[in-house]
Amino acid sequence: MNKNNILSILWKYYGEGSDFREGQDESILSALNNKRTLVVQKTGWGKSLVYFLTTRILRDKGEGPTILISPLLSLMNNQLESAAKFNLIADSINSNNKDEWDRVVFNLLNDSVDILFISPERLGNKDFIDNVLSKIEKNIGLLVIDEAHCISDWGHDFRPDYRRIVNITKRLPKNIPLIATTATANDRVIKDIKKQLGDDLEIIRGPLTRESISIDIIKLGNQAERLAWISENLKNINGTGIIYTLTVDDTKLITSYLKNKGYEVEDYYGGLTAEERSIKESKLLNNEIKALVATVALGMGYDKADISFVIHYQKPGNVVAYYQQIGRAGRALKDSNAILLCGEEDDEISNYFINSAFPTEDEMVQVVNTVNNYEGLSQKSILSHVNMKSGRLEKCLKYLEVEGAIYKEKSKYYPTLNNWKPNMEYSKQISDIRRYELKRMNDYINSETCLMEFIAKELDDNTAHRCGKCKNCTDSRFKSNVEFKNVLDAIEFLKRNHLTIEPRKQWPTGLDLNGNGKVNILSEYRMEEGLVLCSYGDAGWGTIVRKGKYLENKFNKDLINASVNLLKEKVKEWDIDNILYVPSLKRVNLVKDFSYSIAEILKIPCHDAIIKIKDTVEQKTLENSFYQCQNVIDGFDINDNIKYLGNVLIIDDMVDSKWTFTYCTYLLRKKGIADKVYPYALAKTSGNEGRE
Ligand SMILES: Nc1ncnc2c1ncn2[C@@H]1O[C@H](COP(=O)(O)OP(=O)(O)OP(=O)(O)O)[C@@H](O)[C@H]1O
Ligand SMILES: [Mg+2]
Ligand SMILES: [Zn+2]
Repeated sequence: MNKNNILSILWKYYGEGSDFREGQDESILSALNNKRTLVVQKTGWGKSLVYFLTTRILRDKGEGPTILISPLLSLMNNQLESAAKFNLIADSINSNNKDEWDRVVFNLLNDSVDILFISPERLGNKDFIDNVLSKIEKNIGLLVIDEAHCISDWGHDFRPDYRRIVNITKRLPKNIPLIATTATANDRVIKDIKKQLGDDLEIIRGPLTRESISIDIIKLGNQAERLAWISENLKNINGTGIIYTLTVDDTKLITSYLKNKGYEVEDYYGGLTAEERSIKESKLLNNEIKALVATVALGMGYDKADISFVIHYQKPGNVVAYYQQIGRAGRALKDSNAILLCGEEDDEISNYFINSAFPTEDEMVQVVNTVNNYEGLSQKSILSHVNMKSGRLEKCLKYLEVEGAIYKEKSKYYPTLNNWKPNMEYSKQISDIRRYELKRMNDYINSETCLMEFIAKELDDNTAHRCGKCKNCTDSRFKSNVEFKNVLDAIEFLKRNHLTIEPRKQWPTGLDLNGNGKVNILSEYRMEEGLVLCSYGDAGWGTIVRKGKYLENKFNKDLINASVNLLKEKVKEWDIDNILYVPSLKRVNLVKDFSYSIAEILKIPCHDAIIKIKDTVEQKTLENSFYQCQNVIDGFDINDNIKYLGNVLIIDDMVDSKWTFTYCTYLLRKKGIADKVYPYALAKTSGNEGRE
């Protein structure tokens, strides 16, 4: 094979006269010469063409299928379409399609799959290694590692499962070609990848400046100003795009605000079902909507030729991730906009992510001890032995598994024979890097030199140069102020943006309130869906709630009126007979006075029915359901003098785990005091979880 041969093959699929982008042919030839090849090229350059065309050529020569490891199975559709351009039959084995595994393996063994997409998590699954990989590994034609920076601890998006790739490459025959691709590897990361994939790694590297993106930075203090900015400016930005947020809650909030303003937008995050995601992706793809409001779940690799803008609602935690995200814009356009809205408060969210990225020593020791003491526990059962949130536990288990401290078989965890000791030095080092990256992000925002050049230099691109079109090279394309009336409007929106409380349906595993070992909460003891006025600390009511609780020890008239407005129709609809509140020993009158004031205006009787029998620790210091629920059970009871109250509304200031409401409802209903029970809280305080 030479350049001309492969060009003629490109023509076959991309049309006569098409051409390679600088470095594509070189990369393909390198792989065809059985070299392990690392391709470091800018976003939108065409790294997938390299591995798809190489696969095409190898398959035409009769070689075995390609295995592609990608962290982006959520963007499968996007990838499948690209594979189809080369007439490649692509398939996938992932956690969403378990019932198809047999069929896929059968097809693989029959040589009727050209390229198999797998997520790195698969490599940690013993079933997959024993029943799939071991059967086909001798026959693999090409191994592809997309977004290869994830291999490196130093990469901006290190994923523990990527560490397993090294074990796989060691299993494979040495002469199997390998292509690793990334847009975001600096010298340090490249060195790291080399260490893991072998010193003979061929590196093909190109300039990273994205000529078609004009970068702008607009500093705006709070959420209300940013919402106002987007709604004022979005109509003047051509084409379709993506609005990135740091948290799932914000995708929902912005979507609802913009829909209110008449924009066609949809929210997008990892927690959606595969089907919902695919519907929303195709709406954007077909230009049926102006934008997707997304978390990083719509990040790396997403390829839509004509994305003409990327707006960041907050500042990402590092410059490289930022480059990755704005890389979705201007892929086949001459010009596009990347607009970063940012302010001081963003650091709070980034710091939260940094501080919670690794399991703490205490968490790891708790988990390892539990697994040592009770071999063969499921994740759910481990939860009742450790004081951790289930998301934290999942992270910790993954980490310990990759560390070799424990192993998983058929959803149960067992100790390994390794003499494992927590290595905190390692996580401290990585967290320090993350803090440094956040500092660089702040340097970037305050930089007065070319912004694109700043990013390219950050990635050690020695061709970095002035872009001539960013905010610092020329003038800002957008105004940086917003109209006061629009800010007020956004504040009003935030104030109206109340949330719901979904009733819990299960007790934590290990707490046998039913007395029969079952965890479901009997429907006659459950609460109903309730309401929350705001998110704690937000720019609407959230800051006023914070002030009331921690500075004034009183919830003011505005909060009383806002609650009454929210509740006055509801209490009729719910047919509320009486109002109760959740007492506190620390702030005896805070919620009590507030509740009596509301009850008086609503003309519904209020009672001191729930009593606090013990000063329990604050719920927020307890990490998981088992401990939180136990804490509530120890802390509350019902006043013996209280008689039947009909349908009740229970008021509390904060809601997080929902155990207080859930358990008080249980008591009230079990004792025959209440029929239906509706919860109402001033603020929801859950942390900044749910990044994707
Ligand atoms: N030689 C080429 N000629 C024309 N179009 C091309 C060529 N190479 C790639 N493309 C197109 O460029 C687009 C971007 O390609 P691709 O998604 O592979 O980028 P990437 O390098 O993987 O970027 P990212 O780092 O963002 O994942 C695709 O739509 C692809 O069809
Ligand atoms: Mg890609
Ligand atoms: Zn510039």
